[in-house]
Amino acid sequence: MDAPAIATDKLGRDFSGKWAVRDLELAVQPGEIYGFLGQNGAGKTTTLRMLAGLLKPSAGTLRIAGLTHTGNGRALKQVLGFVPDTPPLYDYLTGRQYVALVASLWHVGRQERDERGDALLERLGLGEHADELCKGYSHGTRKKVHIAAVLATAPRVLLLDEPSSGLDPTSVRALKDLLLAESARGTTILLSTHGLELAEQICHRVGILAGGRIATEGTVAELRQRHGDRSLEDVFLQTTGTPHG
Ligand SMILES: Nc1ncnc2c1ncn2[C@@H]1O[C@H](COP(=O)(O)OP(=O)(O)OP(=O)(O)O)[C@@H](O)[C@H]1O
Ligand SMILES: [Mg+2]
Repeated sequence: MDAPAIATDKLGRDFSGKWAVRDLELAVQPGEIYGFLGQNGAGKTTTLRMLAGLLKPSAGTLRIAGLTHTGNGRALKQVLGFVPDTPPLYDYLTGRQYVALVASLWHVGRQERDERGDALLERLGLGEHADELCKGYSHGTRKKVHIAAVLATAPRVLLLDEPSSGLDPTSVRALKDLLLAESARGTTILLSTHGLELAEQICHRVGILAGGRIATEGTVAELRQRHGDRSLEDVFLQTTGTPHG
């Protein structure tokens, strides 16, 4: 088996003495799509922010493509793409200009960034909105532009925090197709989602986080089998200890 593209060892983060993520052991293989599921506050965003280098771990280690963040900032920036839950945009650029700007900061050549950027905006259904100023965009449109911008940098490892939240069903379909295509060409993808259907449809493996730890992980089929062939929703409810009928 290849070395994992994303690997953590006893990764932890505390906020004022309270552990948001604890003893997290994660190994995502090259080209794999791994989905984080978990209740609000389970530690998904905290983990993604540590992996993206935006938050310092309080304990343990992490490696992306074999590299740690310490001393490898530039090299890792070329490898990594991060789509946060609330994406930043530059209000006085159009979506198309924003995508081109981000790609140019990642040293993507002009022709490639124009072609790749335009194709991504098209596939995500931005069409007519791509040439409007970002300041007027709806939440979902902002998110799609940011996804296009990050994908335009052709990251080898892609981290996405709730990429489908706020997207309409047509855009969710486009997003799923895009992520599957990225994975097929070798991009490693770690995403968090509350969309169990999305997880079931595109994730090769999922991990259910509870209290900052991975309570259970595997393919959706494995998880369902372990829980007596119940639905993924039932697996989620049982794993997170949610009272249900
Ligand atoms: N900057 C912070 N300061 C203090 N506590 C924080 C901070 N960021 C996160 N936390 C705490 O860490 C825990 C995990 O939060 P996190 O945002 O990682 O959860 P999540 O799984 O992403 O939840 P959601 O599904 O609501 O996005 C929560 O208890 C949260 O209150
Ligand atoms: Mg979150």
